[in-house]
Amino acid sequence: MIERHSASRAETEILGAALARILRRGDVVTLSGAMGAGKTVLVNGIVRALGSDEDAASPTFALAHEYPTDPPVVHMDACRLENEKEFQSAGMEEYLGGEAVCLLEWPDAGIRFLPDSRLDILIRGCGDEERTIYLRPVGNDWEMRMEDFE
Ligand SMILES: Nc1ncnc2c1ncn2[C@@H]1O[C@H](COP(=O)(O)OP(=O)(O)OP(=O)(O)O)[C@@H](O)[C@H]1O
Ligand SMILES: [Mg+2]
Repeated sequence: MIERHSASRAETEILGAALARILRRGDVVTLSGAMGAGKTVLVNGIVRALGSDEDAASPTFALAHEYPTDPPVVHMDACRLENEKEFQSAGMEEYLGGEAVCLLEWPDAGIRFLPDSRLDILIRGCGDEERTIYLRPVGNDWEMRMEDFE
């Protein structure tokens, strides 16, 4: 597990940009933490670094938003999905295992559909507090990839 600290929105975006450098097609990254922790801010740092000319916002109604970046990214927010069934009927599990890098906020309802190899991120802190960001690689492949993460 890697632990990072962020004192501002900008610092969290810089961490997102650093992560963007190691992301590849088909990767799954989960983002956990309370409302207002900074999950979407981190996603914004990632998609901007990958060349998006729009900011990441919460994909409120659509639940998923695709960015035509390189590699392509889909930002998903399962906040309002209560269980596996809702996760599936919303079409969320079809993105997992697809071509895009999947960045999934509030992954709980989709746990069963997540690949064995993935990166789990947890952000602690809210409001003006400093954030602690935990990056937990799951599976051998991600463990190796995170070894070079600065
Ligand atoms: N160190 C920090 N890192 C990230 N965001 C911060 C930080 N300090 C303050 N903020 C503020 O916290 C808020 C984080 O909002 P954001 O939408 O990213 O949260 P979220 O985790 O996606 O919440 P939700 O679960 O509601 O989608 C922003 O308003 C941001 O400016
Ligand atoms: Mg969010």
